[in-house]
Amino acid sequence: MKLKHFAIAALAVTFAMSSAAAMAAEKDPLKPRAPASAKGEKNPVPASADSIATGEELFQEIGCNGCHGDAGTGDGPASAGMEPGPRNFTNAAWQGARADGELKHTIFAGSDGTAMIANEAMFDEPEDVWHVVNYLRSLKK
Ligand code: HEC
Repeated sequence: MKLKHFAIAALAVTFAMSSAAAMAAEKDPLKPRAPASAKGEKNPVPASADSIATGEELFQEIGCNGCHGDAGTGDGPASAGMEPGPRNFTNAAWQGARADGELKHTIFAGSDGTAMIANEAMFDEPEDVWHVVNYLRSLKK
């Protein structure tokens, strides 16, 4: 009897641990993902309300929200168990650590060895990526 209770408790602990592990965790979010040269590319599109709204539409249409979540908090439906987890764009420290050119670079080229694949081909007009960058900037908390 005692052994059976122990087994059930052990099972509960194992389950709790595995569901914690299933939550996507970001890895070193402040570490640069793009080459230093990407910092030099300036964003030519002013962050107007129109630009931000267009960026949000593209973010949903392309399916960035599947991983990054509808609110950009890194917890979209496809993020479960993802290692490393998708970026939480509301993180002010991460926002401060990145230049717009680095965001564009990673959106287009991806982040090696992660689920963040290259998305350049998803844009009909490459310049539209700046609207997405402006939208991501608007999510800073
Ligand atoms: C299949 C899941 C997935 C999709 C779809 C996806 N991402 Fe990501 N994204 C990730 C993951 C995972 C990371 C974290 C990569 C890492 O830690 O290096 C990430 C990281 C990022 C980063 C942060 C890079 C940095 O400098 O820290 C940006 C910006 C980004 N994604 C933008 C986008 C945009 C915009 C789209 C849509 C065009 C998109 N992502 C689509 C999974 C995804």
